[in-house]
Amino acid sequence: MPSEPSILELDQVTGGYGGAEIIHEVSVRIAPAEIVVLIGPNGAGKSSVMNAVLGRLRIDGGRVRLAGRDITGVPPEQVVRQGVCYVPQTGNVFPNLSVNENLEMGAYIRTDDFRPCIEEMYTLFPPLAERRRAPAGTLSGGQRQMVAIAKALMVEPVILLLDEPTAGLSPRFRGDIFRVVREINARGTPILMVEQNARQALAIADRGYVLVDGRNRLEGTGAGLLADPDVGAMFLGGGGDPEARTPVHGAGEDGGAGHRGAGPDPGARVHGGPETETGAPARDPGADGSDGRGTTDPDPGASDSGRGKDRP
Ligand SMILES: Nc1ncnc2c1ncn2[C@@H]1O[C@H](COP(=O)(O)OP(=O)(O)OP(=O)(O)O)[C@@H](O)[C@H]1O
Ligand SMILES: [Mg+2]
Repeated sequence: MPSEPSILELDQVTGGYGGAEIIHEVSVRIAPAEIVVLIGPNGAGKSSVMNAVLGRLRIDGGRVRLAGRDITGVPPEQVVRQGVCYVPQTGNVFPNLSVNENLEMGAYIRTDDFRPCIEEMYTLFPPLAERRRAPAGTLSGGQRQMVAIAKALMVEPVILLLDEPTAGLSPRFRGDIFRVVREINARGTPILMVEQNARQALAIADRGYVLVDGRNRLEGTGAGLLADPDVGAMFLGGGGDPEARTPVHGAGEDGGAGHRGAGPDPGARVHGGPETETGAPARDPGADGSDGRGTTDPDPGASDSGRGKDRP
């Protein structure tokens, strides 16, 4: 085990919705500098793990800790106020507001001058700078995801939770999102990410967990899991490389950063390019999950954080 304290830790968490128990003694931890990826089949309970952190899952056992503080069962608004920012897969932007207004909404709790932070977002996501006056709902799926992530970053989160940020995106736009995730992490934000695109996600991850049927199945470094035959068979369309196999669950925990190279990647920027994956204007209100809620909060209590400047 690394001696570094976790920024976020689920310790043997059991919980569910209504009468059902969905996750069983699940343990996940994220160290301050890490990207940690959660993979698993549909219905495995990945989003429920995030809900457990966000106070949106009934917890029957175990503890959730944020920077050592027990936040088990703390309501969603309070969790986000403590610096947990969550970007849901869908419904994560205000489609009728401009890109710039979305970023301003992300900063709604800030009382200081957040304009430099908005400009920083435009350097992190150059395609958004060109579209800052455009309604977010007119952007491509990939660019909308960038808006959603940038909006969450407007409060300088203690940790960023991303639920399937590349779902539905073309490979090229997926690559953009993964590059920016890495860049955000290199700038100092730890990240817990649920992903279906396991190969690309593990390639940028320090560590990963495989969840099956609401239970921990495997864990290891990103590189270790990529090479694991079981992971290969389950998620990567192959058997992995047995020679490179690393033991999982408690092993292979070298911090895992080595495979990412040393330090920030100055080249990790999102390229510009066409408006959409197809080159055509994207206007598919259903696909961005905006679900017709217009400019109401896309995910009340969870998609944005209202934290003060008490970054540890
Ligand atoms: N709000 C809810 N109320 C009741 N059951 C739920 C709720 N959300 C999820 N579930 C159930 O919990 C189980 C795990 O769902 P969860 O969304 O956590 O899985 P997941 O791994 O994120 O799946 P996916 O890959 O499809 O997103 C599923 O059986 C799902 O039907
Ligand atoms: Mg899910």
